[in-house]
Amino acid sequence: MHVIAIANNKGGVGKTTSTQNIGAAIATFANKKTLLIDLDPQASLSKSFGIYLEPHKMHAGTFLLGKCDLKDAIITYNNSNLDILPTSMELVQNKEEIKKTNNFPFNLLHALEKYKTSYDFVIVDCPPGVGTLTTIALTACSRYYVPLQAEYFSYEGLRDFISYTGKISSINPNIKLGGVFATRFNPHSRKNFSRNLIQAVKEQLGNRFLQTYIRDNIALSEAQAKKLTIFDYDKKSNGAQDYYNLTKEILYGEKF
Ligand SMILES: Nc1ncnc2c1ncn2[C@@H]1O[C@H](COP(=O)(O)OP(=O)(O)OP(=O)(O)O)[C@@H](O)[C@H]1O
Ligand SMILES: [Mg+2]
Repeated sequence: MHVIAIANNKGGVGKTTSTQNIGAAIATFANKKTLLIDLDPQASLSKSFGIYLEPHKMHAGTFLLGKCDLKDAIITYNNSNLDILPTSMELVQNKEEIKKTNNFPFNLLHALEKYKTSYDFVIVDCPPGVGTLTTIALTACSRYYVPLQAEYFSYEGLRDFISYTGKISSINPNIKLGGVFATRFNPHSRKNFSRNLIQAVKEQLGNRFLQTYIRDNIALSEAQAKKLTIFDYDKKSNGAQDYYNLTKEILYGEKF
């Protein structure tokens, strides 16, 4: 089982959209049993799959607290290889409880131990920032990927984030930056600065800057509104092509 975190200290950069569609591509095209975990109390990933939990249902928060089995909380997408562990606003309170547990920040790592043979891939959608939940995800993962939106991006922000994740290696020696990739990128933009920024990041990160970028594509938002992955909504869209290529680059690049 490979655990991957999709994280960035910035909000609204495409973490959730990337989790959903990289997950769908791994499950569908690579035919791997895949679990997506929604670790953001905003529950955007859950909602993107049409999952709206009623109060007191089992979810990612109760799973992290050891109060339920995975099978009691997961929802399978369209009879496929793709399971989702959804979340709800209750995760805000759960988070405070989780912080006080003896095994913090190893909660997710330990909770998943039992399921090592149940999934090939687990992908965790982190909330923006480097708080409790992101820390738990980074402690459990072997690779993390950072979506980067050039227009709203500062190089210092990325550097600070990567230096934070570097500190996690003292408690999780397996953690490695899988890659940084550009999202909502318009290669024909006349805004030179976004291309220059991307160039600067490429020079700093070398081959950790992935070659595939995700173009700005409205079909990605439309798919989420229809509660579908991009491949089920419009497999010919730029979004579908880009996430297919990105997933190939991730899988082959890492030799999973
Ligand atoms: N490549 C894209 N083209 C067009 N719209 C996109 C693209 N990627 C994401 N979006 C849209 O941008 C918005 C923010 O994306 P998303 O929710 O994936 O970001 P996020 O980093 O998870 O945000 P948050 O930090 O709030 O969790 C969503 O409405 C999504 O549909
Ligand atoms: Mg999100």
